Amino acid sequence: MSRVAVVTGGTRGIGKAISIALKDAGYKVAATYRQNDKEATAFSEQTGIHTYKWNVVNSESCREGIEQIEKDLGPIDILVNNAGITRDRFFHKMTDDDWHDVTQTNLNSCFTMCRSLINPMRERGFGRIINISSINGQSGQMGQVNYSAAKAGIIGFTKALALENATKGITVNAIAPGYISTEMTDAIPEKVRDNIIAKIPVGRMGKPEEIARAVLFLADDQGSFITGSTLSLNGGQHLV
Ligand code: CAA
Repeated sequence: MSRVAVVTGGTRGIGKAISIALKDAGYKVAATYRQNDKEATAFSEQTGIHTYKWNVVNSESCREGIEQIEKDLGPIDILVNNAGITRDRFFHKMTDDDWHDVTQTNLNSCFTMCRSLINPMRERGFGRIINISSINGQSGQMGQVNYSAAKAGIIGFTKALALENATKGITVNAIAPGYISTEMTDAIPEKVRDNIIAKIPVGRMGKPEEIARAVLFLADDQGSFITGSTLSLNGGQHLV
């Protein structure tokens, strides 16, 4: 029987590529999204992947959403915590909302989703949790104190959760993408973007599909010895 995977923020950008790659590899996939109904409907029509709308910051919504997915597709084996936003601004201009929106969506959502799924995974003795961090959580980035803090937090979260569940058949890993061509990087001011690309040794941004390949690798049943790791996919921009 095919395993069931959930991808948060799974209808656009890197999440969309991950959802499609998992489906193409034979997984049953649920993609969650927060607000863009039009894009989610188009994605579902194009791919046949089920979509579910809720805000992953909210614990109760996560519990209800997960219950619905499990009714539709079966118990969830693989969780990809991909949902993420930016509110880029220099720290001396950053508002409370810029801070809270980014840390809650990018980091707290790992707590809400994992908290809802960890006990069933422990009971079944299998789970693959893959958290999408970022190069900017490893290196820091101007204009992203909020985002860098959240993405660095994901790495610590991943390591601690991996240790707690290592004997339960559950692996917990992070992926730290570098600059990937999506709407998020399109929003970077052109001059700044050109400077960033000039610092990527392979000479280009990554593609969402290149991140999706790494998710497939970590999601595999045979990946049981890889846990607590952070896989950096950044074209050589930041070597850890
Ligand atoms: N790298 C190098 N220099 C940067 C920079 C960066 N990431 N961000 C800003 N700067 C520089 C600008 O080039 C500019 O330099 P000059 O004064 O010499 O021209 C200076 O800082 C001021 O920048 P702005 O004129 O743009 O100032 P602003 O207040 O209008 O905007 C900002 C500031 C919001 C930080 C804006 O510059 C910005 O959005 N920068 C990009 C930040 C970034 O890299 N975000 C990553 C988004 S993609 C992502 O997050 C995905 C992922 O995981 C990798």
